[in-house]
Amino acid sequence: MDLRLPARRVLYTLGTVFIFTFLLFRFHVPGNSAFEKQRWGMGDIRNSTLGFEKIFVIGLPSRTDRRDGIVLQAALSDMQVEFIDGVLGKDVVDKAVPTSPQGHERIPDGPLGCWRAHVNAAREIVSRNLTSALILEDDADWDVRIRDQLHDFALSARALTQPVRGRAGAYADPTYPMPSDDSPESVPDLDFHHLPGTVPPTVSPYGDNWDLLWVGHCGMHFPFSKTVPKGRVIRLNDETVAPKRNLWTFNVPFTLKETYPEHTRAYHHAQEGVCALGYALSQRGARKLLHEVALKDVSAGFDILLRWYCEGDKGRAPGRQCLTTQPSLFHHHRTVGPASSMSDIGDHGDGFRDAAMTDMVRWSVRLNADALLEGRTDFVNQYPDE
Ligand SMILES: *[C@@H]1O[C@H](CO)[C@@H](O)[C@H](O)[C@H]1NC(C)=O
Ligand SMILES: *[C@@H]1O[C@H](CO)[C@@H](O)[C@H](O)[C@H]1NC(C)=O
Repeated sequence: MDLRLPARRVLYTLGTVFIFTFLLFRFHVPGNSAFEKQRWGMGDIRNSTLGFEKIFVIGLPSRTDRRDGIVLQAALSDMQVEFIDGVLGKDVVDKAVPTSPQGHERIPDGPLGCWRAHVNAAREIVSRNLTSALILEDDADWDVRIRDQLHDFALSARALTQPVRGRAGAYADPTYPMPSDDSPESVPDLDFHHLPGTVPPTVSPYGDNWDLLWVGHCGMHFPFSKTVPKGRVIRLNDETVAPKRNLWTFNVPFTLKETYPEHTRAYHHAQEGVCALGYALSQRGARKLLHEVALKDVSAGFDILLRWYCEGDKGRAPGRQCLTTQPSLFHHHRTVGPASSMSDIGDHGDGFRDAAMTDMVRWSVRLNADALLEGRTDFVNQYPDE
Protein backbone atom coordinates (compact mmCIF):
# COMPACT_ATOMS: atom_id res chain seq x y z
CA MET A 1 0.00 0.00 0.00
CA ASP A 2 1.24 3.45 -0.92
CA LEU A 3 1.30 5.54 2.24
CA ARG A 4 1.95 8.77 0.35
CA LEU A 5 -1.53 8.78 -1.26
CA PRO A 6 -3.59 10.04 1.73
CA ALA A 7 -0.96 12.68 2.38
CA ARG A 8 -1.31 13.85 -1.20
CA ARG A 9 -5.11 13.89 -0.78
CA VAL A 10 -4.74 16.08 2.26
CA LEU A 11 -2.57 18.39 0.21
CA TYR A 12 -5.15 18.51 -2.60
CA THR A 13 -7.92 19.24 -0.11
CA LEU A 14 -5.91 21.98 1.54
CA GLY A 15 -5.07 23.42 -1.85
CA THR A 16 -8.70 23.44 -2.91
CA VAL A 17 -9.78 25.11 0.34
CA PHE A 18 -7.06 27.71 -0.11
CA ILE A 19 -8.12 28.49 -3.69
CA PHE A 20 -11.79 28.78 -2.70
CA THR A 21 -10.93 31.11 0.16
CA PHE A 22 -8.80 33.21 -2.18
CA LEU A 23 -11.59 33.42 -4.76
CA LEU A 24 -14.13 34.26 -2.06
CA PHE A 25 -12.05 37.16 -0.81
CA ARG A 26 -11.19 38.38 -4.24
CA PHE A 27 -14.65 38.34 -5.75
CA HIS A 28 -17.24 38.30 -3.01
CA VAL A 29 -16.18 40.80 -0.39
CA PRO A 30 -18.48 43.81 -0.77
CA GLY A 31 -16.58 46.94 -1.76
CA ASN A 32 -13.68 44.97 -3.20
CA SER A 33 -12.65 47.29 -5.97
CA ALA A 34 -11.61 44.60 -8.48
CA PHE A 35 -15.04 43.00 -8.10
CA GLU A 36 -16.94 46.27 -8.31
CA LYS A 37 -15.01 47.41 -11.33
CA GLN A 38 -15.41 44.23 -13.31
CA ARG A 39 -19.06 43.74 -12.58
CA TRP A 40 -20.46 47.26 -12.24
CA GLY A 41 -17.72 49.66 -13.23
CA MET A 42 -18.60 51.75 -10.16
CA GLY A 43 -15.03 51.68 -8.87
CA ASP A 44 -13.95 53.81 -11.81
CA ILE A 45 -15.96 56.78 -10.57
CA ARG A 46 -13.40 57.15 -7.79
CA ASN A 47 -10.42 57.38 -10.17
CA SER A 48 -8.48 60.56 -10.91
CA THR A 49 -10.76 61.53 -13.81
CA LEU A 50 -13.96 60.75 -11.88
CA GLY A 51 -15.00 57.90 -14.17
CA PHE A 52 -14.62 59.94 -17.37
CA GLU A 53 -11.71 59.52 -19.75
CA LYS A 54 -10.52 63.12 -19.22
CA ILE A 55 -11.32 66.25 -17.27
CA PHE A 56 -10.95 69.48 -19.27
CA VAL A 57 -10.87 72.92 -17.67
CA ILE A 58 -11.78 75.90 -19.87
CA GLY A 59 -10.36 79.31 -19.08
CA LEU A 60 -8.43 82.25 -20.50
CA PRO A 61 -4.65 81.82 -20.05
CA SER A 62 -4.54 85.43 -18.79
CA ARG A 63 -6.61 84.42 -15.74
CA THR A 64 -3.62 82.91 -14.02
CA ASP A 65 -5.38 83.41 -10.67
CA ARG A 66 -8.08 80.97 -11.67
CA ARG A 67 -5.64 78.44 -13.05
CA ASP A 68 -3.70 78.54 -9.78
CA GLY A 69 -6.93 78.00 -7.88
CA ILE A 70 -8.29 75.12 -9.89
CA VAL A 71 -4.94 73.33 -10.13
CA LEU A 72 -4.73 73.41 -6.33
CA GLN A 73 -8.34 72.24 -5.92
CA ALA A 74 -7.79 69.41 -8.38
CA ALA A 75 -4.62 68.32 -6.60
CA LEU A 76 -6.38 68.39 -3.23
CA SER A 77 -9.13 66.22 -4.73
CA ASP A 78 -6.68 63.84 -6.40
CA MET A 79 -8.02 64.85 -9.81
CA GLN A 80 -6.10 65.10 -13.07
CA VAL A 81 -7.12 68.06 -15.26
CA GLU A 82 -6.08 69.36 -18.67
CA PHE A 83 -6.60 72.98 -19.80
CA ILE A 84 -8.44 74.14 -22.90
CA ASP A 85 -7.59 77.77 -23.58
CA GLY A 86 -10.47 80.20 -23.45
CA VAL A 87 -11.07 82.34 -26.54
CA LEU A 88 -11.68 86.09 -26.80
CA GLY A 89 -14.77 86.86 -28.87
CA LYS A 90 -12.91 89.50 -30.90
CA ASP A 91 -10.61 86.74 -32.23
CA VAL A 92 -13.52 84.81 -33.72
CA VAL A 93 -13.96 85.95 -37.33
CA ASP A 94 -17.46 86.52 -38.67
CA LYS A 95 -17.09 83.82 -41.33
CA ALA A 96 -16.45 81.22 -38.61
CA VAL A 97 -19.78 81.84 -36.88
CA PRO A 98 -22.65 79.81 -38.42
CA THR A 99 -25.77 81.84 -38.98
CA SER A 100 -29.28 81.20 -40.29
CA PRO A 101 -30.39 82.11 -43.83
CA GLN A 102 -32.40 85.01 -42.34
CA GLY A 103 -29.24 86.26 -40.66
CA HIS A 104 -29.06 88.11 -37.36
CA GLU A 105 -26.70 90.28 -35.31
CA ARG A 106 -23.45 88.72 -34.22
CA ILE A 107 -23.81 87.80 -30.54
CA PRO A 108 -21.63 89.89 -28.16
CA ASP A 109 -17.93 89.07 -27.85
CA GLY A 110 -18.15 87.63 -24.32
CA PRO A 111 -20.67 84.87 -25.08
CA LEU A 112 -19.13 84.31 -28.54
CA GLY A 113 -15.68 83.55 -27.09
CA CYS A 114 -17.31 81.33 -24.49
CA TRP A 115 -19.18 79.40 -27.22
CA ARG A 116 -15.93 78.93 -29.16
CA ALA A 117 -14.00 77.62 -26.13
CA HIS A 118 -16.72 75.10 -25.23
CA VAL A 119 -16.97 73.93 -28.83
CA ASN A 120 -13.17 73.50 -28.89
CA ALA A 121 -13.51 71.18 -25.88
CA ALA A 122 -16.19 69.10 -27.61
CA ARG A 123 -14.06 68.98 -30.75
CA GLU A 124 -11.14 67.68 -28.70
CA ILE A 125 -13.31 64.81 -27.44
CA VAL A 126 -14.30 63.91 -30.99
CA SER A 127 -10.88 64.25 -32.61
CA ARG A 128 -9.18 62.28 -29.82
CA ASN A 129 -12.01 59.73 -29.81
CA LEU A 130 -12.39 59.95 -26.02
CA THR A 131 -15.19 57.79 -24.58
CA SER A 132 -16.23 60.74 -22.39
CA ALA A 133 -14.91 63.88 -20.73
CA LEU A 134 -15.97 66.21 -17.94
CA ILE A 135 -15.71 69.88 -18.91
CA LEU A 136 -15.43 72.49 -16.16
CA GLU A 137 -15.11 76.26 -16.26
CA ASP A 138 -12.10 77.54 -14.35
CA ASP A 139 -14.02 79.11 -11.47
CA ALA A 140 -15.81 75.89 -10.53
CA ASP A 141 -15.69 74.55 -6.97
CA TRP A 142 -17.10 71.33 -5.54
CA ASP A 143 -17.64 69.40 -2.33
CA VAL A 144 -14.91 67.35 -0.67
CA ARG A 145 -17.35 64.42 -1.11
CA ILE A 146 -17.59 64.81 -4.91
CA ARG A 147 -16.82 61.12 -5.51
CA ASP A 148 -19.70 59.99 -3.29
CA GLN A 149 -21.97 62.48 -5.03
CA LEU A 150 -20.98 61.26 -8.51
CA HIS A 151 -21.33 57.65 -7.40
CA ASP A 152 -24.93 58.37 -6.42
CA PHE A 153 -25.46 60.33 -9.61
CA ALA A 154 -24.31 57.29 -11.61
CA LEU A 155 -26.67 54.94 -9.76
CA SER A 156 -29.56 57.31 -10.51
CA ALA A 157 -28.53 57.84 -14.13
CA ARG A 158 -28.50 54.07 -14.60
CA ALA A 159 -31.94 53.72 -13.04
CA LEU A 160 -33.27 56.33 -15.48
CA THR A 161 -31.58 55.14 -18.69
CA GLN A 162 -30.44 51.50 -18.42
CA PRO A 163 -32.92 48.67 -19.22
CA VAL A 164 -34.47 46.98 -16.18
CA ARG A 165 -32.75 43.68 -15.48
CA GLY A 166 -34.75 40.63 -16.53
CA ARG A 167 -37.42 42.65 -18.39
CA ALA A 168 -36.13 42.92 -21.94
CA GLY A 169 -36.36 46.44 -23.35
CA ALA A 170 -38.28 47.86 -20.36
CA TYR A 171 -37.18 50.98 -18.47
CA ALA A 172 -38.03 52.10 -14.94
CA ASP A 173 -39.12 55.43 -16.45
CA PRO A 174 -42.07 54.65 -18.78
CA THR A 175 -41.46 57.91 -20.69
CA TYR A 176 -37.85 56.97 -21.59
CA PRO A 177 -36.30 57.41 -24.16
CA MET A 178 -38.90 59.97 -25.23
CA PRO A 179 -42.49 60.57 -24.10
CA SER A 180 -45.15 59.58 -26.64
CA ASP A 181 -48.50 61.27 -27.22
CA ASP A 182 -50.23 59.03 -24.68
CA SER A 183 -47.47 59.27 -22.06
CA PRO A 184 -48.53 60.58 -18.64
CA GLU A 185 -47.70 64.19 -17.74
CA SER A 186 -45.75 62.94 -14.76
CA VAL A 187 -44.53 59.59 -13.46
CA PRO A 188 -44.10 58.40 -9.85
CA ASP A 189 -40.81 59.37 -8.18
CA LEU A 190 -38.18 56.64 -7.93
CA ASP A 191 -36.76 56.33 -4.42
CA PHE A 192 -32.97 56.49 -4.45
CA HIS A 193 -32.78 53.92 -1.66
CA HIS A 194 -34.90 51.39 -3.60
CA LEU A 195 -33.76 51.71 -7.18
CA PRO A 196 -34.75 48.99 -9.64
CA GLY A 197 -32.01 46.56 -10.74
CA THR A 198 -30.77 47.56 -14.18
CA VAL A 199 -28.51 45.97 -16.78
CA PRO A 200 -24.89 46.93 -15.96
CA PRO A 201 -23.41 49.36 -18.49
CA THR A 202 -20.34 48.46 -20.53
CA VAL A 203 -19.09 51.78 -21.91
CA SER A 204 -19.27 54.22 -19.00
CA PRO A 205 -19.88 53.77 -15.26
CA TYR A 206 -22.61 56.44 -15.67
CA GLY A 207 -24.55 54.26 -18.12
CA ASP A 208 -24.33 53.59 -21.84
CA ASN A 209 -27.18 55.78 -23.02
CA TRP A 210 -26.36 59.39 -22.21
CA ASP A 211 -25.19 62.30 -24.32
CA LEU A 212 -24.63 64.94 -21.66
CA LEU A 213 -24.51 65.02 -17.85
CA TRP A 214 -25.27 68.58 -16.74
CA VAL A 215 -23.69 68.52 -13.29
CA GLY A 216 -22.71 72.21 -13.01
CA HIS A 217 -25.53 74.72 -13.55
CA CYS A 218 -27.21 77.66 -11.84
CA GLY A 219 -30.77 76.65 -12.53
CA MET A 220 -32.76 73.70 -13.85
CA HIS A 221 -36.42 72.72 -14.14
CA PHE A 222 -38.03 69.34 -13.73
CA PRO A 223 -38.95 68.16 -17.25
CA PHE A 224 -42.11 69.49 -18.83
CA SER A 225 -41.45 69.49 -22.61
CA LYS A 226 -42.90 66.81 -24.86
CA THR A 227 -39.42 65.72 -25.91
CA VAL A 228 -37.89 65.20 -22.45
CA PRO A 229 -38.42 61.99 -20.39
CA LYS A 230 -40.19 62.62 -17.09
CA GLY A 231 -38.50 60.19 -14.68
CA ARG A 232 -37.17 61.50 -11.35
CA VAL A 233 -34.99 59.83 -8.77
CA ILE A 234 -35.50 61.44 -5.35
CA ARG A 235 -32.98 61.12 -2.59
CA LEU A 236 -34.05 62.27 0.88
CA ASN A 237 -31.52 63.19 3.59
CA ASP A 238 -28.53 63.90 1.39
CA GLU A 239 -26.25 65.62 3.87
CA THR A 240 -24.28 67.30 1.05
CA VAL A 241 -27.40 69.35 0.17
CA ALA A 242 -27.36 72.80 1.81
CA PRO A 243 -30.38 73.92 3.88
CA LYS A 244 -33.26 75.36 1.84
CA ARG A 245 -32.51 78.90 3.00
CA ASN A 246 -29.14 78.67 1.18
CA LEU A 247 -30.49 77.22 -2.07
CA TRP A 248 -31.22 79.49 -5.01
CA THR A 249 -31.84 79.16 -8.74
CA PHE A 250 -32.46 81.25 -11.83
CA ASN A 251 -35.47 79.03 -12.59
CA VAL A 252 -38.80 79.94 -11.03
CA PRO A 253 -40.73 78.14 -9.61
CA PHE A 254 -38.02 76.36 -7.61
CA THR A 255 -39.96 73.12 -7.41
CA LEU A 256 -37.27 71.16 -5.57
CA LYS A 257 -37.36 73.66 -2.69
CA GLU A 258 -41.11 74.20 -2.70
CA THR A 259 -42.20 70.57 -2.94
CA TYR A 260 -39.65 68.37 -1.20
CA PRO A 261 -38.28 68.25 2.38
CA GLU A 262 -34.97 69.77 3.53
CA HIS A 263 -31.82 68.09 2.15
CA THR A 264 -33.54 66.45 -0.81
CA ARG A 265 -31.56 65.82 -3.97
CA ALA A 266 -33.25 65.09 -7.31
CA TYR A 267 -31.84 63.40 -10.42
CA HIS A 268 -33.68 63.78 -13.72
CA HIS A 269 -33.43 64.82 -17.38
CA ALA A 270 -32.34 68.40 -18.00
CA GLN A 271 -34.91 71.09 -18.78
CA GLU A 272 -34.06 74.77 -19.31
CA GLY A 273 -30.62 74.57 -17.75
CA VAL A 274 -28.81 77.85 -17.05
CA CYS A 275 -24.97 78.21 -16.96
CA ALA A 276 -22.64 75.62 -18.47
CA LEU A 277 -20.26 75.60 -15.52
CA GLY A 278 -19.73 71.85 -15.61
CA TYR A 279 -21.00 69.03 -17.79
CA ALA A 280 -19.80 65.74 -19.19
CA LEU A 281 -20.09 64.67 -22.80
CA SER A 282 -19.95 61.11 -24.09
CA GLN A 283 -18.30 60.50 -27.44
CA ARG A 284 -21.68 60.28 -29.12
CA GLY A 285 -22.86 63.36 -27.22
CA ALA A 286 -19.81 65.36 -28.35
CA ARG A 287 -20.37 64.40 -31.99
CA LYS A 288 -24.00 65.49 -31.79
CA LEU A 289 -22.89 68.69 -30.08
CA LEU A 290 -20.60 69.54 -33.00
CA HIS A 291 -23.50 68.90 -35.33
CA GLU A 292 -26.16 70.85 -33.39
CA VAL A 293 -24.25 73.53 -31.48
CA ALA A 294 -21.03 74.16 -33.41
CA LEU A 295 -22.36 73.98 -36.96
CA LYS A 296 -25.85 75.48 -36.63
CA ASP A 297 -26.95 79.06 -36.15
CA VAL A 298 -25.15 80.65 -33.17
CA SER A 299 -27.89 83.01 -32.03
CA ALA A 300 -27.56 82.75 -28.25
CA GLY A 301 -25.09 82.03 -25.47
CA PHE A 302 -23.66 78.54 -25.12
CA ASP A 303 -25.89 77.49 -22.22
CA ILE A 304 -29.02 78.40 -24.19
CA LEU A 305 -27.67 76.43 -27.18
CA LEU A 306 -27.10 73.47 -24.82
CA ARG A 307 -30.67 73.78 -23.68
CA TRP A 308 -31.91 73.58 -27.29
CA TYR A 309 -29.57 70.64 -27.87
CA CYS A 310 -31.01 68.78 -24.86
CA GLU A 311 -34.64 69.56 -25.68
CA GLY A 312 -34.55 69.26 -29.47
CA ASP A 313 -35.63 72.88 -29.84
CA LYS A 314 -34.91 75.58 -32.48
CA GLY A 315 -34.04 73.21 -35.30
CA ARG A 316 -32.06 70.74 -33.18
CA ALA A 317 -33.03 67.06 -33.38
CA PRO A 318 -35.00 65.66 -30.42
CA GLY A 319 -33.95 62.58 -28.46
CA ARG A 320 -30.74 63.73 -26.73
CA GLN A 321 -30.25 62.21 -23.30
CA CYS A 322 -29.13 64.97 -20.93
CA LEU A 323 -29.19 64.09 -17.24
CA THR A 324 -28.83 66.46 -14.32
CA THR A 325 -29.18 66.82 -10.58
CA GLN A 326 -30.56 69.52 -8.29
CA PRO A 327 -28.87 71.11 -6.48
CA SER A 328 -25.94 71.30 -8.86
CA LEU A 329 -22.66 69.55 -7.93
CA PHE A 330 -20.34 72.26 -9.30
CA HIS A 331 -20.79 75.93 -8.44
CA HIS A 332 -18.99 79.21 -9.08
CA HIS A 333 -16.34 80.07 -6.51
CA ARG A 334 -16.21 83.76 -5.69
CA THR A 335 -12.91 85.09 -4.41
CA VAL A 336 -12.21 88.08 -2.22
CA GLY A 337 -11.84 91.22 -4.33
CA PRO A 338 -13.73 93.54 -6.63
CA ALA A 339 -16.91 91.83 -7.78
CA SER A 340 -16.03 92.81 -11.37
CA SER A 341 -13.21 90.21 -11.49
CA MET A 342 -15.83 87.47 -11.16
CA SER A 343 -16.34 86.74 -14.82
CA ASP A 344 -14.97 88.05 -18.06
CA ILE A 345 -18.32 87.67 -19.76
CA GLY A 346 -20.62 90.08 -17.99
CA ASP A 347 -20.43 93.26 -15.96
CA HIS A 348 -20.88 92.57 -12.28
CA GLY A 349 -21.02 96.10 -10.93
CA ASP A 350 -18.75 97.94 -8.52
CA GLY A 351 -19.12 95.92 -5.31
CA PHE A 352 -16.25 94.44 -3.33
CA ARG A 353 -16.45 90.94 -1.83
CA ASP A 354 -14.62 90.65 1.47
CA ALA A 355 -15.14 86.93 2.13
CA ALA A 356 -14.62 84.13 -0.37
CA MET A 357 -17.61 81.85 -0.90
CA THR A 358 -19.05 79.15 -3.12
CA ASP A 359 -22.82 79.00 -3.51
CA MET A 360 -24.55 75.96 -2.03
CA VAL A 361 -21.42 73.79 -1.63
CA ARG A 362 -21.25 72.73 2.03
CA TRP A 363 -17.71 71.31 2.32
CA SER A 364 -16.12 73.41 -0.43
CA VAL A 365 -12.70 72.09 -1.51
CA ARG A 366 -11.47 75.63 -2.12
CA LEU A 367 -12.57 76.90 1.28
CA ASN A 368 -11.19 73.84 3.05
CA ALA A 369 -7.74 74.04 1.48
CA ASP A 370 -6.10 74.59 4.89
CA ALA A 371 -7.56 71.38 6.32
CA LEU A 372 -6.94 69.35 3.16
CA LEU A 373 -3.32 70.50 2.91
CA GLU A 374 -2.69 69.28 6.44
CA GLY A 375 -4.63 66.06 5.98
CA ARG A 376 -7.23 67.12 8.54
CA THR A 377 -10.90 66.22 8.23
CA ASP A 378 -12.44 68.92 10.45
CA PHE A 379 -14.00 70.56 7.40
CA VAL A 380 -15.71 73.93 7.55
CA ASN A 381 -19.37 73.63 6.57
CA GLN A 382 -20.36 76.88 4.83
CA TYR A 383 -24.05 76.16 5.22
CA PRO A 384 -24.76 74.43 8.55
CA ASP A 385 -28.27 73.62 9.82
CA GLU A 386 -29.04 76.38 12.34
C1 LIG B 1 -11.19 56.38 -15.04
O1 LIG B 1 -12.27 55.56 -15.41
C2 LIG B 1 -12.79 55.82 -16.72
C3 LIG B 1 -14.01 54.93 -16.93
O2 LIG B 1 -13.71 53.59 -16.86
C4 LIG B 1 -11.69 55.56 -17.76
O3 LIG B 1 -12.16 55.84 -19.06
C5 LIG B 1 -10.51 56.46 -17.43
O4 LIG B 1 -9.44 56.17 -18.34
C6 LIG B 1 -10.04 56.24 -16.01
N1 LIG B 1 -9.02 57.23 -15.69
C7 LIG B 1 -7.78 56.90 -15.38
C8 LIG B 1 -6.86 58.03 -15.09
O5 LIG B 1 -7.41 55.74 -15.31
C1 LIG C 1 -13.09 55.20 -31.42
O1 LIG C 1 -13.12 54.33 -30.32
C2 LIG C 1 -14.00 53.22 -30.47
C3 LIG C 1 -13.97 52.43 -29.17
O2 LIG C 1 -14.11 53.24 -28.05
C4 LIG C 1 -13.57 52.38 -31.64
O3 LIG C 1 -14.48 51.31 -31.83
C5 LIG C 1 -13.52 53.24 -32.90
O4 LIG C 1 -12.99 52.48 -33.98
C6 LIG C 1 -12.63 54.46 -32.66
N1 LIG C 1 -12.71 55.33 -33.82
C7 LIG C 1 -11.65 55.93 -34.33
C8 LIG C 1 -11.88 56.80 -35.51
O5 LIG C 1 -10.53 55.77 -33.87
